Amino acid sequence: MKTVRWGIIGPGNIAHKFADALRTIESAILTAVASRDKSRARRFADQYAVPLAFDSYAALAACPELDAVYIATPHSHHAKPTTDCLKHGKAVLCEKPITVNAAELQYLIDLAHQNNTFLMEAMWTRFLPIMETVKDWIDTGAIGEPRLVQADFGFRSDKKNPKTRLFNPALAGGSLLDVGVYPISFSHWVFGDAPVAVSGQAMLGDTGVDEQMCATMKFTGGRLASVISAIRTKTNGMATIFGTDGQIRIAPPFWQATTATLIRGKNQQTIERPFQVNGFEYEIMEVCRCLNAGLAESPKLTLQDSLGVMQTLDMLRAQWKLHYPSELKK
Ligand SMILES: NC(=O)c1ccc[n+]([C@@H]2O[C@H](COP(=O)([O-])OP(=O)(O)OC[C@H]3O[C@@H](n4cnc5c(N)ncnc54)[C@H](OP(=O)(O)O)[C@@H]3O)[C@@H](O)[C@H]2O)c1
Repeated sequence: MKTVRWGIIGPGNIAHKFADALRTIESAILTAVASRDKSRARRFADQYAVPLAFDSYAALAACPELDAVYIATPHSHHAKPTTDCLKHGKAVLCEKPITVNAAELQYLIDLAHQNNTFLMEAMWTRFLPIMETVKDWIDTGAIGEPRLVQADFGFRSDKKNPKTRLFNPALAGGSLLDVGVYPISFSHWVFGDAPVAVSGQAMLGDTGVDEQMCATMKFTGGRLASVISAIRTKTNGMATIFGTDGQIRIAPPFWQATTATLIRGKNQQTIERPFQVNGFEYEIMEVCRCLNAGLAESPKLTLQDSLGVMQTLDMLRAQWKLHYPSELKK
């Protein structure tokens, strides 16, 4: 397999986890990093032995020595560097949620198609080995017909600084986009479709973003999903798929699970599939595989899938009248 030369834009919290995983992958090499601040780029480059350090995202996007770029900026700042990278023919793996809303994503999809360039949302949960087992159980009818999904992702942040990305509307903060996207994307994946109806309730905090929310999604045939997210309240992190003949429980936290349990009557079977590194290696390997196969998107997480999820997030925010400053300007 040809080695994919990677760049990272936005060397913050999550970029470290990504770099830790990437350096263990044979078909990938970390070649460049870009920060708005030269010394931050240099520090990250020194830590991970990265040859090129840029003090502008645009310079990295234009660098001819790269094949793929990982975008690890706050959600509000995904679309611009992704646009620049796609225009320069770079494959893009962009952190979740891939954009702030569906309109932004539709623009990027059109651009990726025009340039015949790869684009994928970094919804890493989808690529975990245990999810292959879960998919296999669903597809082989181990729980009969899947009817209901229940999933939650909530944690308690101390909110010392309301300007940080979790609480800041200018950075598209709030629980829905930050962590609600996991149970929502999971539900879309289980039912292999987007919902026909969505409704929800949210508690908007003093900065104007949702600090917690509950949502219900109705899929064709009466299949339902119930999801929770929170950034000021810790929840169990469970995902359960209920079928006509049994259920699948994905060990908390489900978004980084290594075990899942199949329950049929009194019979229980638990499967464990540990990570090679930290779980990020699987999405990176998927991008390398797709690029080597000449694919413009991953069949495991298509752009249409991500667009369906963004539409669900848009519908919920519309019900709560939660709009971000960048959306109000238009
Ligand atoms: N997959 C996962 O498990 C996971 C976990 C956490 C977060 N995420 C996602 O990853 C993305 C980044 O999250 P994070 O926690 O790593 O964020 P972060 O540390 O707060 O920010 C990441 C970097 O973005 C850059 N940045 C660009 N414009 C910025 C602005 N206006 N304000 C602040 N920073 C800005 C900064 O880099 P420079 O200033 O150096 O350029 C910063 O270090 C988010 O979309 C989030 O949803 C994913």
